[in-house]
Amino acid sequence: MFPKILCVVGARPNFMKIAPIMAALRQPSVPLAARLVHTGQHYDVAMNQQFFQQLGIPTPDVDLEVGSASHAVQTAEIMKRFEPVVDAEQPAAVLVVGDVNSTIACALVAAKKGIRVIHVEAGLRSYDRTMPEEINRVLTDQISDLLFITERAALAHLTREGIESARVHFVGNVMIDTLRASLPRATPPAQTLATVPHAAEFLNESCGYGVLTLHRPSNVDDPVALAGLLTALSELSTEVPLVFPVHPRTRGMIEKAGLSALLDSPRCCCLPPLGYLEMLGLMQRARLVLTDSGGIQEETTALGVPCLTLRENTERPITVTEGTNTVVGIDPERILAAAREVLTGGGKAGRIPECWDGHAAERITAVLVNELGSAG
Ligand code: UD1
Repeated sequence: MFPKILCVVGARPNFMKIAPIMAALRQPSVPLAARLVHTGQHYDVAMNQQFFQQLGIPTPDVDLEVGSASHAVQTAEIMKRFEPVVDAEQPAAVLVVGDVNSTIACALVAAKKGIRVIHVEAGLRSYDRTMPEEINRVLTDQISDLLFITERAALAHLTREGIESARVHFVGNVMIDTLRASLPRATPPAQTLATVPHAAEFLNESCGYGVLTLHRPSNVDDPVALAGLLTALSELSTEVPLVFPVHPRTRGMIEKAGLSALLDSPRCCCLPPLGYLEMLGLMQRARLVLTDSGGIQEETTALGVPCLTLRENTERPITVTEGTNTVVGIDPERILAAAREVLTGGGKAGRIPECWDGHAAERITAVLVNELGSAG
């Protein structure tokens, strides 16, 4: 019997990371048994099922079906439901990706049972402890046995936190594996926007269109910050039409704060959350992307599309130093000035960071075969 690895996914940004890892681990030549556990943190079709279909992720072997709750309840519920799975499966290791609540919850269960924890996308730091993801990152790295990093700066962060470099492996970016493999299947924007009034006009405008995403609690849970952002973005939409796939958290907050009127313009096209291939196609052809997502900062760098990050910091500095990303914060004047600079030809061209080459999952698999090969 091959050593067993329980691979964990929970929320939308995990899906594009786990897809190439499962594919690589399940190659017939790989002497490891990979099982997939879904915590159910994200559960609806728009946030969940369509990603499994589009990315060819295998059906989870186990679904914990936790759903939405406060951070404490959600994290605790995942731990309670994951523990019996670990007891039954007796894996050699538990592999977690990214920085969501499912990541820390499952890592903690495994670490307390003396089971090796593998963290993919380790060592990223915003140094902003008000972000729930930053807490999840720091704590998961502390209890991980094997840490896979996407950019070299992560090693310095981990070393400063006392993690031995022998446990850290620079392998590149699994999310970019998925992006490269999926590009030929990206959905053309005209198809994604086929039913949107006026979309045909703005797809033909010489200035192009922008893509907007917002979901960080710091931006959308505070009605004052959210109103400021939406006011600036609605003004920007008079200069470049914006396509805005709205995260469920954000939609709820916009309605609750009575801000829907700010988006009521044919040049600000609000959509439900999109599938991966639809989002990829839209971003690929966009003039600029405005976002507070972590993953989109990396995807735009890989696509060579200018990105303005609507946060005060980033845990992904390579997207700024080498890629197309500019961190602009949430001050409306700064956002408008930075967007106008891009629209007048000032956007960063960037270059592709080292090892963002579509082969990160293969490198991870090679290390895991080496490290776990004789266990089990
Ligand atoms: C989570 C992650 C965040 C990631 C984001 C991507 C944590 C701490 N945060 O934040 O890092 O960038 O996912 O989306 O893990 N909802 C639905 N359908 C779903 C899931 C959620 O409608 O399938 C709604 C619920 O109303 C829920 C809200 O979205 O309360 C927020 O979901 P939650 O998983 O708590 O956090 P996200 O903000 O999505």
